[in-house]
Amino acid sequence: MAGNLYGRDGAAIGSLQKLRFFPLAVAGGQGARLVEEDGRELIDLSGAWGAASLGYGHPAIIEAVSRAAANPAGASILSASNAPAVALAERLTASFPGRGTHKVWFGHSGSDANEAAYRAITRATGRTGVIAFIGAYHGCTVGSMAFSGHSVQADAAKADGLILLPYPDPYRPYQDDPTGDAVLALLKERLAAVPAGSIAAAFIEPIQSDGGLIVPPDGFLRKFADICRAHGISVVCDEVKVGLARSGRLHCFEHEGFVPDILVLGKGLGGGLPLSAVIAPAEILDCASAFAMQTLHGNPVCAAAGLAVLETIEAENLTTAAERKGKLLREGLARLAERHELIGDIRGRGLACGVELVRNRQSREPARAETAKLIYRAYELGLVLYYVGMNGNVLEMTPPLTMTEDEVRHAVNLLDQAFTELSTVSDTLVSQFAGW
Ligand SMILES: Cc1ncc(COP(=O)(O)O)c(C=O)c1O
Repeated sequence: MAGNLYGRDGAAIGSLQKLRFFPLAVAGGQGARLVEEDGRELIDLSGAWGAASLGYGHPAIIEAVSRAAANPAGASILSASNAPAVALAERLTASFPGRGTHKVWFGHSGSDANEAAYRAITRATGRTGVIAFIGAYHGCTVGSMAFSGHSVQADAAKADGLILLPYPDPYRPYQDDPTGDAVLALLKERLAAVPAGSIAAAFIEPIQSDGGLIVPPDGFLRKFADICRAHGISVVCDEVKVGLARSGRLHCFEHEGFVPDILVLGKGLGGGLPLSAVIAPAEILDCASAFAMQTLHGNPVCAAAGLAVLETIEAENLTTAAERKGKLLREGLARLAERHELIGDIRGRGLACGVELVRNRQSREPARAETAKLIYRAYELGLVLYYVGMNGNVLEMTPPLTMTEDEVRHAVNLLDQAFTELSTVSDTLVSQFAGW
């Protein structure tokens, strides 16, 4: 429970970078568990928003980071190559099935990676327009906010020529069309209305995460990419949250039988350390030099962690594990739905799982206040998860890929209890936490 640490955090660290839902103050972690100051353990069903891909204190990360820090190959790739960064780039390009020669750009976060991808494409092509989706969260830098469509950034300046489309949401379909074809028709309409050759890139999340953990209808991504490519538009898959084994495939786009032009990775790539990557055609990433760089980009300690993550995914078969555990999780949630009317929809792929809460299953009225209380009660019971969605009513579960099956079952039981005891949480209590 909240101790002195949370109070000190409030006094010393500003709110700008906080997205808080309850007074969690972490003193340590092990596996899929976080430990508070007083030793209380909580199961982390969020995995720090997916960043803790191998959980906390994984031996492979400890070994790789300790080794890299003990004899560091410099601190950057700006003015010298370093062995871990080169090895990681080689491994990433080898994992990417796109045709032609691909290279890698390294960053610290999903935000800088998406921004660099956008800037590089516009520089390489001379085009400036960009397509993205309502509900999309591509980052929190000026550049990445410019083509994000999430309500939390409604005040941010948007890119000139930005086309924002509704994300194809089978549970809340645009124009009542669950196939997503109405969205594609709108895309064609919008493209017909702009000068030919003006759009550089289309950013799409293969599962829209912060917009509500929405899995698009089968075939949508492929059809979307075909339309974009017919207009010479590069398709950028933002897999910052759902990539690298989380979805039950190494790359989430593999579910859809298509390959994007550019892939953006982050969060889980560093296994808890700041690391992101863009994999793109060489002609885009070589279009300029000294153009998208920060001093510590490609630093060897983070790169070593990235290599450890990729090696562990393979060694521990975490892709298959994510699929199996995700199925177990959704089966457990489906049983909860029989008892708890609030559960309107359960969706996801592998260990990227969303549960949409509604006040009425017919009208699908979003249960925003109840969602905030639910995760608060879950926290009190020893379970960490947050909510996402434009209506703030979708529980998001992106736990460590290493979470055990027993922990998955335990998490479902705690969630069951949280649903039952949701009314014990007062409005006043949750109102102290701004959330989204
Ligand atoms: C799909 C997606 N892209 C980009 C980002 C931004 O990543 P970061 O917060 O590491 O900058 C996020 C963060 O939630 C995300 O979910």
